[in-house]
Amino acid sequence: TRRIVVTGSASGIGRATAELLRERGDEVIGVDLRDADIAADLSTPEGRVAAAAAVAARCPDGIDAVVACAGLSGVTPLLVRVNYFGVTELLTALRPLLAKSAEPRAVVIGSISGTMPHDAELVEACLAGDEQLAVKLAQAAVDRGEPRRLYPSSKAALARWIRRTAIAPGWADAGIPLNAVAPGNVLTPMMLPILDDPAMKKVMDQAVPMPLNGYAKPEVLARALTWLVSPENSHITGQTIYVDGGAEATTRGDGV
Ligand code: NAI
Repeated sequence: TRRIVVTGSASGIGRATAELLRERGDEVIGVDLRDADIAADLSTPEGRVAAAAAVAARCPDGIDAVVACAGLSGVTPLLVRVNYFGVTELLTALRPLLAKSAEPRAVVIGSISGTMPHDAELVEACLAGDEQLAVKLAQAAVDRGEPRRLYPSSKAALARWIRRTAIAPGWADAGIPLNAVAPGNVLTPMMLPILDDPAMKKVMDQAVPMPLNGYAKPEVLARALTWLVSPENSHITGQTIYVDGGAEATTRGDGV
């Protein structure tokens, strides 16, 4: 039995992933604000420390994988805290427990939005690990009436962090693949209200065209995530894998 930590396990992609792993016989330790094995608020440094400590107390012999799904959409500085620091700081805190596994793996959820226009200064503040500055810049963007780049910025920063960290000491050299899965539009409680609004749906369909099979169900993402944290994935690391029905290929074409 593999022991796998899933954040955001109470809803959407995290929930579908936890269900699929349990069906396959793995032990899942769900982390979420509520309705989870470990209730924790990943938007704060204290919440992340508490979550990592609770995992360590439950699994003193280590964990085999982390699937980081907890995230927020919208136009609030809070999403920088959850989508970037809530993922990177928790993974950093859990790395020693992963290193105890014979076949450790980690994966996070990025987004097609990470390829869209973003705020370079905010991304740099994230990558520098400066949460205070990042939140200040995010608040300034909100105050200027330009909050729509916050979400793409949080996901662009995350994709770059994955790329750097995957080959940093303690990861590849410790046998831990670290990747991101980037969805297009997925039918989860985060996205359904947006797609229910005809004007918003039109904007999303234009920004995220999905010629292959349309919107994805959360189970589709769960299958990619579970494979990336399975022992079968021995050599993919530092990558963002687009599970997006052709959205990235359509919007970026040859210009990658
Ligand atoms: P969801 O809203 O269904 O699930 C997100 C989960 O994260 C919830 O259970 C929520 O309680 C948890 N969460 C939020 N803030 C938290 C905090 N401070 N501490 C602990 N847990 C917290 O959303 P969905 O769609 O399943 O999203 C999962 C991930 O996928 C997110 O990172 C999101 O940005 C990403 N994503 C989703 C897409 C979509 O179309 N649904 C598209 C691209 C990326």
